[in-house]
Amino acid sequence: MGGGVGLQVMERFGDCLGAHVWDSSVMMSRLFRFGSVGVGGGLGDVRGKDVLELGGGVGLTAVAVKGMGARRVEVTEDFGKKGVEEILIYNCQGTGVTVKHCRWGEGGEGEGGACWDLVIAADVLYDRGAWENLASEALRKCKAGGTFLVGQKDRGGQRDVVEGFAQTAVGMGWTWGGRKRGGWEGDFVWFVK
Ligand SMILES: C[S@@+](CC[C@H](N)C(=O)[O-])C[C@H]1O[C@@H](n2cnc3c(N)ncnc32)[C@H](O)[C@@H]1O
Repeated sequence: MGGGVGLQVMERFGDCLGAHVWDSSVMMSRLFRFGSVGVGGGLGDVRGKDVLELGGGVGLTAVAVKGMGARRVEVTEDFGKKGVEEILIYNCQGTGVTVKHCRWGEGGEGEGGACWDLVIAADVLYDRGAWENLASEALRKCKAGGTFLVGQKDRGGQRDVVEGFAQTAVGMGWTWGGRKRGGWEGDFVWFVK
């Protein structure tokens, strides 16, 4: 990841969406490493925080966040999706990151209660039908005063995707935090509980 920190994850093409690394997870990792998009409010500093990732795919961001000093990191995925469970467990072994099944809106075996300082999700807005479940899952697991950060790659005409999701999230009870265009073709948007 530059700056002297190395990070390697396995990915597998041809399986489900989550079985390989998406740009948003790389950019979110860089955000935490370098604060490169200048997101305010201390968002970029994960040291000592308890961080939950939703839809973590191969686990790149979760492993990066743990390596950058987060106190506790849990990454969740929908293990019903072919190919993702095995690869996520493989990448997280020995890193201190806990791996759990969670399909948004269905609870899952992720740690119960609202105990996370920061809930993160990268490149997960492609299915509008899942937005309410995503926003409510994050709300259920985030502690009061905690933050929900979403990173989304712009694949052309997708800026309205971020705006649309923001409306959904606020409608579900999140307080608008802010939005930052990264040094890449995508957005970070965040909310406060
Ligand atoms: C485009 S991939 C991004 C993976 C990873 N965050 C990254 O940026 O590399 C979207 C991920 O969201 C997960 N996902 C989609 N819908 C989900 C749901 N309803 N519940 C849990 N995970 C879901 C998928 O399994 C997939 O791993």
